[in-house]
Amino acid sequence: MKRASQVAFAAASLLTVLAAISTAQDFKKQVIYQIVTDRFYNGDTSNDNPPQSPGLFDPTQTNWNLYWGGDLVGIQDKLSYLQGMGVTALWISPPMDNINVNIPDSNGNPTAPYHGYSAHDFMRIEEHFGDVNNYWTEFTNLVTAAHNLGMKIIVDFPVNDSNPNTAGEDGALYNDGTLVTNYNTDPDGCTGGTVGGCVYHHTPAIPSCFCDRFDIQYDTLEGLADFNQEDSTTDSYLKSAITTFQSYGADAFRIDAVKHATWGWEYSLANTTFTNAPSFFFGEWFLTSTTDEFYDDFYKYANRSGMSVLDYALYQAVRDVFASNNNFSEIDSLISTEDANFTWQNDLVTFFDNHDNPRFLNLNDNTNRLNEATAYILTERGIPIIYYGDEQYLFNTTDGGATPYNRQMMSSFSTSTTQYKLIKDLSTLRQNNDAVAYGSHTQRWINNDVYIYERQFYNSVVLVAINKNDTTSYPISGLDTALPAGTYTDYLGGLMGGSSITVSSGSGGNDPVTNFTLNPHAVAVWQVVGSVPAPEVGSIGPTIAQPGVKVTIAGQGFGTSTGSVSFSGTNATINSWSNTSVTFAVPSVANGVYSVQLKNSSGTAANTIQFTVLTAKLIPVTFTVNNANPTNTGDYIFLVGNTVELGDWGSPTPTFFNSIGPMLCPNYPNWFLNVSVPAGQNIQFKFVDIQANGNVVWESGSNHTYTVPTSGIGSVTVNWQY
Ligand code: NOJ
Ligand code: NOJ
Repeated sequence: MKRASQVAFAAASLLTVLAAISTAQDFKKQVIYQIVTDRFYNGDTSNDNPPQSPGLFDPTQTNWNLYWGGDLVGIQDKLSYLQGMGVTALWISPPMDNINVNIPDSNGNPTAPYHGYSAHDFMRIEEHFGDVNNYWTEFTNLVTAAHNLGMKIIVDFPVNDSNPNTAGEDGALYNDGTLVTNYNTDPDGCTGGTVGGCVYHHTPAIPSCFCDRFDIQYDTLEGLADFNQEDSTTDSYLKSAITTFQSYGADAFRIDAVKHATWGWEYSLANTTFTNAPSFFFGEWFLTSTTDEFYDDFYKYANRSGMSVLDYALYQAVRDVFASNNNFSEIDSLISTEDANFTWQNDLVTFFDNHDNPRFLNLNDNTNRLNEATAYILTERGIPIIYYGDEQYLFNTTDGGATPYNRQMMSSFSTSTTQYKLIKDLSTLRQNNDAVAYGSHTQRWINNDVYIYERQFYNSVVLVAINKNDTTSYPISGLDTALPAGTYTDYLGGLMGGSSITVSSGSGGNDPVTNFTLNPHAVAVWQVVGSVPAPEVGSIGPTIAQPGVKVTIAGQGFGTSTGSVSFSGTNATINSWSNTSVTFAVPSVANGVYSVQLKNSSGTAANTIQFTVLTAKLIPVTFTVNNANPTNTGDYIFLVGNTVELGDWGSPTPTFFNSIGPMLCPNYPNWFLNVSVPAGQNIQFKFVDIQANGNVVWESGSNHTYTVPTSGIGSVTVNWQY
């Protein structure tokens, strides 16, 4: 297999087959493993020092900022190691072709984009990761080998930036070898809110407070050439790149720096991808707590964009509690807050280590604590990520383990560490007991050191007890559970010091557990897979799409004969039906939020699940309202209009959550916002001023109207009607 342009056809038909094998939309059963491709395993030495980018490879592995040899063939070589650990999905470094020259650091030492975040051609594969021709061969081989083992490939996709704007190749961007632009020759008029004309924003660095919605989306991050997604060239470049990755078999995408690209545009990126083929998206939106000033924007985005997000708030809480010894109440209250805010909390992607932060063991060199934190994220709600090397207790103390010292070469591939076995056991539990992937979370017992929580999906229950104290045993009394009366052995077989419990009959789903002692560092897991008297729905994906797009509902007890899936009485056309998974096309119903109803072939109804039917595929349009109603601090202009994409007029009263915005105001009193709206529709809209106290001032006059283009991008500018 050669280049995108040469083999698009063959790849597309191959991928129809692969897409049928994997139901990428239901990601809740996955256990993700994050790989820094360059630092995992060198499976092919012929690409170590490629001719087009010589000297970026350090065979001695002493310069941490050069390539060290890991590649896609190396990942493929280690698939059985990964599968043996229970890993089901691999998040790899951005595999697209990086710049070819070194950039000296402040000491004059060479640096290279071994991490992948300096792409210059999104339509080709980096030569150090694939082959010296930048062909797709090694990527395709990895995808095929992974799919043959039932594993998925998640591509890290930068939407905010390409490569350094005034160093290296100065933001050079190619489309399968043809130069598109670079930062110096790209017109420098685009600073945000101007539509088209520049591939890149030409803006200063994001101010260090990171505290303004306009600045964080439109200014420059880490000196990287910042894409202007409101330009038609950029829009189509990024969308054709992501669908090219789909055609080569990428199952899902980790979207880099979503907080720093144009939020409204990103809805259309996800929608373009879901329209092309099944996928799953999770965005990187950095924050560390629910008191972050953009926390509300964060979950509004996850609830409305069709994408999930990395749960960075839980990342911080897990590190605080397990590494820094904070009380378990920090985790417990975070989970309650997030569960109340996120519509699809089981889709949140959870982790406590990654390539941008010191490893857990740098914070606290205590492998018991690392194991406990790992057991926690593998059993708590959300889709867990293991950062490569944690299972081998890898860490380096230089500079406190900060980047790049958190990206060491994988040291060993031992299958006998406690962590390796733990991940395997809890991945098996996730496959076999739906409470882990689909269940609710209930706290059952808590003190500073002990957390006992329950996951439940109908009659399936998982009860987890963790004691993080290094030396103290705790007697556990007064514990209730939804596990039915009986004796339960530790699912981990004592791997982490757990033992059996006895449960007697209680009432109302509260069965008393006989008093027991939880030893220091113990993690115990007790579980039951219950009977399934009726169909039970645990998942829908994607969560937002227009008629015709393929959607999967997952759960249990659907039966083997085809039943029905209805949207307020209109049945969807079913594509496939099994006891645990149903795929169908969204029927042609009016746009809006639906409670989707699955019934088995005898007409027995499951629980309903929320889905948003869009009017049509999404097109990014920049809305500008000039001379808007005067605002005071804390007041913002929002957009509302006559479709679900436009917030259904913010009915009954426009609020932050049901309206589109806040709009951005770099040039008071003119406001703008890029919003993804339905292609080809004649939409009606107005602007509203939602004041700090909640009062709403509507524009007067009649509704504005606009016909959305059927492809590409759009823009519309009006004056506020007084
Ligand atoms: C976020 C990535 O995780 C980080 O490693 C990278 O440097 C920045 N995005 C810029 O692309
Ligand atoms: C209510 C607003 O007051 C009005 O201005 C707008 O035209 C309608 N919603 C649209 O139905």
